Amino acid sequence: MNVKQVDQFAKEILLEAGKRIRAAFSYDIEIETKSNANDLVTNIDRETEVFFIEQIKNFDPTHRILGEEGMGEKVNSLEGVVWIIDPIDGTMNFVKQHRHFMISIGVFVDGVGVLGYIYDVMREDLFYAISGEGAWYNDSPLRKLQPLNINEAVIGINANWVTPNSKINHEKIIDLVRTVRGTRSYGSAAMEIAFVVSGKLDAYISMRLAPWDIGGGTIIAKEVGAIATNFNGDAFDFLTTDTFLIANPCIHQLILDQYIEEK
Ligand code: IPD
Ligand code: CA
Ligand code: CA
Repeated sequence: MNVKQVDQFAKEILLEAGKRIRAAFSYDIEIETKSNANDLVTNIDRETEVFFIEQIKNFDPTHRILGEEGMGEKVNSLEGVVWIIDPIDGTMNFVKQHRHFMISIGVFVDGVGVLGYIYDVMREDLFYAISGEGAWYNDSPLRKLQPLNINEAVIGINANWVTPNSKINHEKIIDLVRTVRGTRSYGSAAMEIAFVVSGKLDAYISMRLAPWDIGGGTIIAKEVGAIATNFNGDAFDFLTTDTFLIANPCIHQLILDQYIEEK
């Protein structure tokens, strides 16, 4: 794969998809629910995924696409070139706020992340990385994450996890929330990951994410020294859903050891 050529092409289709999504606010957006009443999908999620599939297949028919909405072929392995795409991450924000949603793309070659993109459609801001060459926020290089202590950290976490629940010991999460400098919850995993890799957040914790939520972000993470694993400290498997912690390297292990206890 010619990395530079694919990078240029990926940026072109991201910008074009962004334009189409922004234009969609002038039309009717059809909203449906998926696994539960809060799991939303719209015609724009699906149309955007179809747009990416058509463009990528036209660019190189051997490339395969693993998209959240399943509009393309079934992808059961990461052999060859696989694009992992979330056409709109933060669909609830898209529907309700008309902002704070991202397009996430990771390009993998034989299972190894090579190009990662997180595009903030309404701000027209692009976070991206080329494996081994660095990461950028628009035209500015992203620097390596700087050392910090846990009590200086601002972390992304959903408020659900400080209430009694079936997945995690919430008392330990309360302890974490009391220890850190602040918490935030943005409603888009890709946005929270973009904020961790650019030092605006120092960690982001989720009980369940899918490959498309994190495909782009984990590739950018490597370039800035952020650590991304599941709650066992293992690398994410890009064919299944799993728990997820991305953090500044100074606090990643500490959060796993002291504050996360799965039930
Ligand atoms: C969701 C968002 C949300 C996260 C969910 C994801 P979607 O993605 O990233 O912030 O908490 O786990 O499924 O459905 O809006 O693409
Ligand atoms: Ca998502
Ligand atoms: Ca989505």
